[in-house]
Order: sequence, then structure tokens, then C-alpha cells
Amino acid sequence: MSLLQIKDLSVTFEGDDGPVHAVNNLSLSIDKGQTLGIVGESGSGKSQTAFSIMGLLAKNGRTSGSVLFDGQEILGAPAKVLNKIRAERIAMIFQDPMTSLNPYMRISDQMTEVLTLHHGMSKRDALVECTRMLDAVKIPAAKERIRLYPHEFSGGMRQRVMIAMSLLCKPDLLIADEPTTALDVTVQAQIMGLLSELQRDFGMATILITHDLGVVAGFCERVLVMYGGRVMEEAPTDPLFATPSHPYTRGLLAAVPRVDDEDAVMKAIPGNPPNMSDPPEGCPFRPRCTYAVDSCHTMPPLEPFAENRARACRRPIEELSA
Ligand SMILES: Nc1ncnc2c1ncn2[C@@H]1O[C@H](COP(=O)(O)OP(=O)(O)O)[C@@H](O)[C@H]1O
Ligand SMILES: [Mg+2]
Repeated sequence: MSLLQIKDLSVTFEGDDGPVHAVNNLSLSIDKGQTLGIVGESGSGKSQTAFSIMGLLAKNGRTSGSVLFDGQEILGAPAKVLNKIRAERIAMIFQDPMTSLNPYMRISDQMTEVLTLHHGMSKRDALVECTRMLDAVKIPAAKERIRLYPHEFSGGMRQRVMIAMSLLCKPDLLIADEPTTALDVTVQAQIMGLLSELQRDFGMATILITHDLGVVAGFCERVLVMYGGRVMEEAPTDPLFATPSHPYTRGLLAAVPRVDDEDAVMKAIPGNPPNMSDPPEGCPFRPRCTYAVDSCHTMPPLEPFAENRARACRRPIEELSA
């Protein structure tokens, strides 16, 4: 049984100009200890997928479909059930750690609270455990620095604190939503390296959400490429990079900076993601796609075509030449 199994998840917001279909019929599954990347440009529906899993959708949002966590339906589950799952089994980290850290509390107080409130630990034991966890995320002089306030840390160090905090409950599933996007490139690489190490050590399943296909390469076993609230392509990471099967994935790949070839020209995909309150009919990528044909005016189904691979595109792969 999968640790997390999502079937036909749709998320709709009641917007000022009518409904916004942020996520459409998304299905995915992830087993214990697996790593899955969700990649796509801004507005693809990545975060709203995560928020639906966590039960953290904005008030004007509605969901349909199914989210089974360890066999239990959690989509639309009562707050009490979701609170417990968030405290004990699924953790999430965000782009900006300050959305989760309280600026007026010492790190020690906010970290130990997780363990004293939710896991019934004594304050003293909790402090030992939290310091150990700051050591694990390689914060120097953790014993002293745990007494500081969030603003006394750099952006990278704050993200380390956030990661440490998310791991306190030994989650079965970690959802990291653009965890390094706000950081500069060097720090970004350090944090991804750290996450990778911790993922192996702790063995938690991890969903890494990012707009940067380059970031998933060293981290994820499998990747889901999203655009306009839909899954465009799903594949194990290596085959995805070797033979991207969807024009959108090809576009994303061409935009990834190459470490092995500094002279390579990066090409951003021309045009912009759709306005989701007025999306194009059919395939959302159609207006930007150089391969689009008339039949793209209806949404192609996501269809398996090779082992563990699926794509939603009308054009045969052979026709997608460079
Ligand atoms: N509360 C909301 N009300 C209306 N639309 C929203 C709301 N939250 C998100 N959206 C829209 O949902 C779409 C998907 O957003 P999101 O999942 O956050 O994208 P991303 O892939 O960048 O994480 C976007 O078009 C966004 O504008
Ligand atoms: Mg997002």
C-alpha cells in the first residue's frame, strides 16, 4: 500500500471573476521512503496540491477527489484528525521559513513546544532533542544558538532551523515547497545537500516542490511535471532528463542552467503561464507550444507509454524533434 495516494484531486477557488480551477484531476502516489518531485512554473498548482494534502487550503478553496494517507482518507477530514497528522506524521517546509517561525519567540521555545505539547516530553528532554536536531542540520554551536531569535539567523540558517523543526516529529512524509528558492545559489546547494542526507538518514518519503527542474535532478527518484493545474508528464528522473516526452518538459529542460557547459544558451519558454481564472480550452500549454495542433483544443488524457511513464500530449514522441 502506498504511503500517500491521491486520486483525481481537483482544487477550485471561488474568485472575484468566477471559479479558478487551480488543480484538475491530479493523481499521484508515493511509497514509504520515496522521493517525488513536483515541477512546474509559477501558478501550475503545485502549492495548492500540497495545501490540499495538509488541509491548509484558503477559505475560498474547495476540493474533490481522494487523498489516502496510510489508507486513511484525509481530504476534507475534520481539523482534529488533520492536526494530529500534521503534528505526528506529515511535515511541511516552505520557501520562507518566517511563515512558520514566530519572530517573537526564541528558537528553543518554539522548537521544544513541538515536543512538549504534541509528544508529552519534559521541557528538559525536549531541549536536548532539539539541540541534537540543530546539530543534525549542521548549525554550528547549536547549544548556544538555540537561545536566539529567528531574525538573528541568516536566511540559510533559518531554513536549517525550519528543517530541524519539521523533523522533530520524525515524519513519515515531508513536503518541501520551494525550500531553497529564496536563497542564493551556494546556500541553495548546501540546503539541498543537507535535505538529501537527512532524507537518507531519516528515511522519510519526501515531496519536493520546485519551479526548477535542475533542483530535482540530484534529489528525486520520480518527477511529476505540472502545468496549468494538470499533470503533463510523469517519469522516473533519469528517463525524464534523457528523453523528455512532453513539449513542456522539453521547454523546462532547455531553461535549466548547465553546470557542465557554461556557454550553453539557456532558453526560457516564450510566453507566460495561463491566467487560471480564464485558462485556454484544451491543453493549457497549447498557446505556448510549438507542436500544437487542432486536436489540442481538447485536453489530452494522461496516458502511460513506457514503464512508469505517462504523458498528456496529442503529438507522438517521435514528432517532438529538437
Ligand atoms: N485563495 C486563492 N483564490 C483564488 N485563486 C488562488 C488562490 N490561491 C491560489 N490561487 C490560484 O491557484 C493557482 C495555482 O496556484 P499555486 O498552487 O499556488 O501555484 P504554484 O505552482 O506556483 O505553487 C494560481 O493560478 C493561483 O493564482
Ligand atoms: Mg507555490
